[in-house]
Amino acid sequence: MAESTVDLDNMISPEYFADPYVLFEQIRENDPIHWNALFGFWILTRYDDIYSALQDRRFASTVTPRSSLLASLAPEDLAALPAVAGYLTMFMQGMDPPLHTRQRGLIHRSFTPRMVEHMRERIESIVTELLDAVQAKGEFDLMDDLAFPLPSTVIFELLGIPLELRDSVRRSSETIAAFVSLTTPAPGQLQQMAASLQIVADQLRPIIAQRRTQPQNDFLSSLVQVEEHGEYLSEQELIILITMLLFAGHETTTNLLGNGIFALLNHPRQWELLKANPSLVNGAVEEMLRFSSPVTIISRFITEDLTMDGKRIHKGEQVRLALGAANRDPKHFPDPNAFNITRKPERILSFGFGIHFCVGAALARMESQIVLTELIRRMPNLRIANDSYQWRPNLAMPGLLSLPVKC
Ligand code: HEM
Repeated sequence: MAESTVDLDNMISPEYFADPYVLFEQIRENDPIHWNALFGFWILTRYDDIYSALQDRRFASTVTPRSSLLASLAPEDLAALPAVAGYLTMFMQGMDPPLHTRQRGLIHRSFTPRMVEHMRERIESIVTELLDAVQAKGEFDLMDDLAFPLPSTVIFELLGIPLELRDSVRRSSETIAAFVSLTTPAPGQLQQMAASLQIVADQLRPIIAQRRTQPQNDFLSSLVQVEEHGEYLSEQELIILITMLLFAGHETTTNLLGNGIFALLNHPRQWELLKANPSLVNGAVEEMLRFSSPVTIISRFITEDLTMDGKRIHKGEQVRLALGAANRDPKHFPDPNAFNITRKPERILSFGFGIHFCVGAALARMESQIVLTELIRRMPNLRIANDSYQWRPNLAMPGLLSLPVKC
């Protein structure tokens, strides 16, 4: 390992939140399989290491709580832990086979490509409505007026959940995102998370009961009816599944739209190229996903001692896979820090890979392609209005809180 004088551990600085790629590059160049002593986890930054870890069963998804974390929690947070852990461990992202296989199979039977494709026209009309509402003003906030409301409206409608629940889900999503990203929760954070999840659960309960007696043409109705070996999903399983899908389905896509359009507008030649060649829209979305990954880091837990590149990684240790760093690995992406919508296709890791590959990838891509198509058609003069935009302080899901633009 090269001896480094650079601080490779500080992943909670404002500079990191605004641009994690500087640190990712430093880690990849100095110590690509790095033990972050500040937070107590390994971080992998090379594409090939991450790609193989994603297919290695010894890198498990089931959370192994660190005893040091438990010891550090305030009593009120410790009391809230079982409720919160219920969500994180009963959702497929935090499961391993065979539990994962069962839940993923159930979702696949309801969340079909046909169901997603059915949403195309509806997504087009939501984008039209959102742009109609702001175009005449000449200036708007890309996050509040487009990047947040679009994915959340789509996922709520797709699942069949009334939009009135959006504010409480947004609040619980924010606490989930903060919790998932930080290594040690701030005092009171778990308690707050348990409370906001409880509010959403109480709101979902009557809706689930109603779908049992009066099924509709939506994902929730089909989930309620789906059965395996004569078993239906319990009310609690349904609540967790729906809450986590609402979370997985909007926070990430909001980041893709916000970060991606920010990158596009900061590269005016690429924006001009896209306007002149609308057929490049799909390539532009792939480059947005690569250049500013909506999820930069995911977690795994080691099930048996192993050695990687001479480093001994022990059972129970947490390993963070920096998908964002993989997407900028020069071995796979020449000139990786250049934003180039005409890149030759190469497998990006923004949606993960292997058995946990993102269920919503096609939906997120479709939403973003429709947005770009409409923006270049309706708002060719779109530009960043000023530098008052703000980044969310999040270690693993970098995103903008606001982005004032002019059209
Ligand atoms: C740009 C948008 C999105 C990005 C970047 C993204 C990213 C990811 C990533 C990296 C994973 C793998 C996690 C792991 O291996 O630990 C994942 C899994 C998942 N995603 Fe997405 N996602 C996006 C949109 C969506 C949407 C729209 C939905 C739902 C409609 C969704 C639902 C899920 C689910 C359910 C999983 C867990 C799959 C499993 O564990 O088998 N995602 N996503």
